[in-house]
Amino acid sequence: MSVPALQVDNVSKDFGRIIALRSVNLSVNPGEFVSILGRNGAGKTTLLNIISGVSRPSEGSVLLFGTDPSDHDNKAKLAVISHEMFLYGNLTAVENLEYYAKIYELADATQRIQEVLNDVELTHRRFDLVSTYSRGMTQRLTIARALLHQPALLLLDEPFTGLDQHAIGMLISLLKSQKELGRTIILTTHDLHTAQELSDRYVVIAKHRIVKDGVMAETSPDVLRSEFFSAIGGEDDS
Ligand SMILES: Nc1ncnc2c1ncn2[C@@H]1O[C@H](COP(=O)(O)OP(=O)(O)OP(=O)(O)O)[C@@H](O)[C@H]1O
Ligand SMILES: [Mg+2]
Repeated sequence: MSVPALQVDNVSKDFGRIIALRSVNLSVNPGEFVSILGRNGAGKTTLLNIISGVSRPSEGSVLLFGTDPSDHDNKAKLAVISHEMFLYGNLTAVENLEYYAKIYELADATQRIQEVLNDVELTHRRFDLVSTYSRGMTQRLTIARALLHQPALLLLDEPFTGLDQHAIGMLISLLKSQKELGRTIILTTHDLHTAQELSDRYVVIAKHRIVKDGVMAETSPDVLRSEFFSAIGGEDDS
């Protein structure tokens, strides 16, 4: 067996008196696409923050490719798309990407920058300041920034937020090609239909725990819906 891309062991997280996660176990193989589902406040973002090393678990441990998330090698293997854009408004798209290309020490920076700008359909606006971008355009540039260094593991926290129908389709096909390239992808979304279209596996979080870990190919849309709603129940986690 190869080393898992992600190994979450018995992770719990509290914020003072607020319980966010309880005894979460999750192992993801290289190349797998996993969707994490759950209501507002279920703990999805908290789990992604712990996986990316932004937040430490109160208990338990996380390994990325067999090592600690904060290990230097993991920085180059990981990309995060979340509500935090990590972009500079006073720089152009190209300047932002050049900045990240330096951080990741990319050899073929100019070509990669052209490729990712093309992927997110921002080539025509590449010399404009990011502060002049619309919300959806900024989100598209965030996606370009995340894909720039060809990360092995992609963590996507509601990446479709703010995108129009065309851009949603663009991101779906980008994610499909990332999957074909063998990337490991973990996505949180409230859109069961998109989760169904993209994922190999789905995980439902409710009451701070993983209450369902299922194989998407074995689950019809109707079954996914009914499993999701019975798993989250009537309770409010937020
Ligand atoms: N920095 C923080 N300080 C205090 N409580 C927090 C903090 N971050 C998250 N929480 C709490 O942890 C719980 C899980 O929040 P989290 O953001 O992980 O939910 P989520 O599943 O991502 O929800 P959403 O679908 O709304 O994005 C919530 O009760 C939330 O209030
Ligand atoms: Mg969240």
